[in-house]
Amino acid sequence: MTSENTTTRDNAVVILAAGKGVRMCSDLPKVLHPVAGAPMLHHAMRAALTLSPTRFAVVVGQGAEAVAATARKLVPDAAICEQAEQLGTAHAMRMAESALADFEGDVFILYGDTPFISAETLGAMAAARFAGADLVALGFDAAEPGGYGRMVTGYGGMLERIVEAKDASAEEIAIRTCNSGVMAADSTTIFRLLAKVGNDNAKGEYYLTDVVELARAEGLSASVVRCDEAETLGINDRVQLAEAEAAFQARARRAAMLGGVTMTAPETVFLAWDTKLGRDVKIAPNVVFGPGVEIADGAEIHAFCHLDACRIGPSAIIGPFARLRPGSDIGESARIGNFVEIKNADIGHGAKVNHLSYVGDATIGARANLGAGTVTCNYDGFAKHRTEIGEGAFIGVNTALIAPVAIGDNAYVGTGTVITRDVPDDALALSRTPQTNREGVAPRLRETLRSRSKNKNS
Ligand code: UD1
Ligand code: MG
Repeated sequence: MTSENTTTRDNAVVILAAGKGVRMCSDLPKVLHPVAGAPMLHHAMRAALTLSPTRFAVVVGQGAEAVAATARKLVPDAAICEQAEQLGTAHAMRMAESALADFEGDVFILYGDTPFISAETLGAMAAARFAGADLVALGFDAAEPGGYGRMVTGYGGMLERIVEAKDASAEEIAIRTCNSGVMAADSTTIFRLLAKVGNDNAKGEYYLTDVVELARAEGLSASVVRCDEAETLGINDRVQLAEAEAAFQARARRAAMLGGVTMTAPETVFLAWDTKLGRDVKIAPNVVFGPGVEIADGAEIHAFCHLDACRIGPSAIIGPFARLRPGSDIGESARIGNFVEIKNADIGHGAKVNHLSYVGDATIGARANLGAGTVTCNYDGFAKHRTEIGEGAFIGVNTALIAPVAIGDNAYVGTGTVITRDVPDDALALSRTPQTNREGVAPRLRETLRSRSKNKNS
């Protein structure tokens, strides 16, 4: 046992994300494939952030630039450590040594392709370090141990070594406790042990898992923290990617319902990693959430809506068949009806956009009513322009609003109008051609058309 005072120790995190991901058969690096609308790398990084690390390193290799850029989106000051050749997990870990050269404290190692490790589990690992274990590895009892590394324990459940499936004896392969890959140890200890790891094994790789046996040989202690198998689900191919998505969705739907959301057919509702749903929100079947959606208490989402990076106010009613695109902010008790698309627009308190409309780059005042087929013409082929509609304004059916343009409070726009100039408060705007009726002309017109078509066909 070491005598470091673990109460005041800093944490560093290293995420291994250089692997090829050959089995994904993809041009996109494996760790960038999304689960619930976020790259799996971000899931792993977010889990690691719950340790409040003072240092964060990501080991990149395949698709290094894209992986590094994605990592820095979440942790801008993350150290990016390049592993030019993927020679194994121990080799990958050594790539982070220079970035952590001046770091004193605990290092937590996570895999970029294992997105669901919980904060509680990482907390349990930190607690095991605090309790005195020199090296802590995260294990799980696998339903089907398959190709996972097996955790060989000895007296008192102490971890003796981890053996990869390909190198395991018949007795070892029967062990159910498998290695998740997550590990924690003092920084000096882990890098000292890593320097001793060789590659004399079935794959000819430098295995991170070998540090356990090396630690025991030095008289250090190693222990296993166990978690649920669902947390350690690793993604190696697209079948596992779909399984990971399903597992995420099942958990997220359940959490939403237990938090007071009604879902009539939860298995058809697809949430994003950051979806925020208030109390008494009702979600009908077949609703899809992109990232960044927040729904306030009592709002109702009817069937077949697609919502992306938008906010929906209390008691608003959306859909069926509505599409809310990024930047949409729907006010309290507002109503967005069927076949309506909203983009980058504020819809005021109690306003209604009930049918077949496109509202983009706009501000719609409280209680305004937009008739069926209202379209904001926000794009001229080069730039986007805003439309402003005042409180209580009434926009007639099939109105085109050529932006930039403003409609005043309580103004009235007649059906079929093309608005090109601002409309003052309380004004009536009309732009359609006056109607003419020519009495008795229809039968004569019909006769002319009939004889023309006869001549043509004879
Ligand atoms: C590893 C473990 C195994 C464990 C399993 C859990 C080792 C030797 N084996 O096996 O005990 O049961 O994970 O899923 O550690 N990576 C690099 N550089 C490399 C190789 C890998 O960065 O040179 C990264 C990968 O991007 C991935 C992670 O390390 O994020 C794990 O690599 P992978 O090849 O999937 O290891 P497994 O064979 O699954
Ligand atoms: Mg793997």
